[in-house]
Amino acid sequence: MSNPNDPRTPVTVLGLGAMGSALAGAFVRAGHPTTVWNRTAGKADALVARGAVRADTVAEAVAAGPLVIVCVLDYAAAREILEPAGPRLSGRVLVNLTSDTPERARSAAVWAAGHGIDYLDGSVMVPTPDIGQPGATLLYSGSRQAFETYEETLKVLGGRAAYLGDDHGTAAVYDLSLLGFFFSAMAGLVHAFALSGAEGIAAKEFVPFTEAIAGILPPIAAGMAQDLDRGVFSGDQDNIVMEAAGIAHVIEASVDRGINTEVLDAVQGLADRTIAAGHGKTGFISVIEEMRKPSAKG
Ligand SMILES: NC(=O)c1ccc[n+]([C@@H]2O[C@H](COP(=O)([O-])OP(=O)(O)OC[C@H]3O[C@@H](n4cnc5c(N)ncnc54)[C@H](OP(=O)(O)O)[C@@H]3O)[C@@H](O)[C@H]2O)c1
Repeated sequence: MSNPNDPRTPVTVLGLGAMGSALAGAFVRAGHPTTVWNRTAGKADALVARGAVRADTVAEAVAAGPLVIVCVLDYAAAREILEPAGPRLSGRVLVNLTSDTPERARSAAVWAAGHGIDYLDGSVMVPTPDIGQPGATLLYSGSRQAFETYEETLKVLGGRAAYLGDDHGTAAVYDLSLLGFFFSAMAGLVHAFALSGAEGIAAKEFVPFTEAIAGILPPIAAGMAQDLDRGVFSGDQDNIVMEAAGIAHVIEASVDRGINTEVLDAVQGLADRTIAAGHGKTGFISVIEEMRKPSAKG
């Protein structure tokens, strides 16, 4: 088996969807001997043209090197692929960059331990074009030894490779928390295009101004974190009664134009219940008390 500190450690990538292909492409670009396998074999063609080696079977792919990366739709698919190769994976490092729940990450770790596999769970926090960039964030948790041994190799995928501890579920907790933030913001963004578009404003005219909102989020997040850590929710500059009035205006204008208000209705519900509970003078972070309760669906 090769020297793990050798920058040309052979790497295997299982799963060549959009993300798996980007991961394998980054390894090829960095000069790693890269063996690839995908259920639909044709998806390996472009990578093979760039120098990757196509494996006909998962077992053959796994046998090619000490470090195996899997990135497919979900853990059920990963399990389907890995289960028959379990004995071959014994003694190797498996890094699962598939996104799924913390519970499934932890049960994958139990399965891996049963097969003598050194298992690192991970999450990719960037879109495919960012893979291989020094600023790209990928999160890892689980085997510290696996992370430390292959840290330099994993940094080929994204320079911000963060190890979050030995609980295999932690990377997934970060991943899903951040995905919830992302998709809520995406829904709000699409609503913004729908509402401005209903007044005949072209998306390309509107889009530069979305930066005004995206740009204020990092300092707002830092302020919220400070409030949460202190347990004091100040609202001197931005109390939630004022914010709820803004939410109501968005909903009213949307209703007037026949635009769907489901996303904003949910936000209004959280804000209204927070105010009703007596927190009207505090900032938006105080809706966290409502967030901490199960929703009707839960
Ligand atoms: N794309 C992104 O921007 C992005 C960003 C961050 C994280 N991620 C995460 O990366 C993972 C992969 O995403 P993706 O964008 O690559 O998805 P994708 O383009 O839809 O590809 C899905 C992959 O899963 C494979 N697959 C699905 N079911 C399978 C099964 N039962 N058995 C074997 N293989 C199966 C597919 O194989 P076939 O080709 O044979 O169908 C394909 O390789 C996901 O967990 C996703 O959340 C993606």
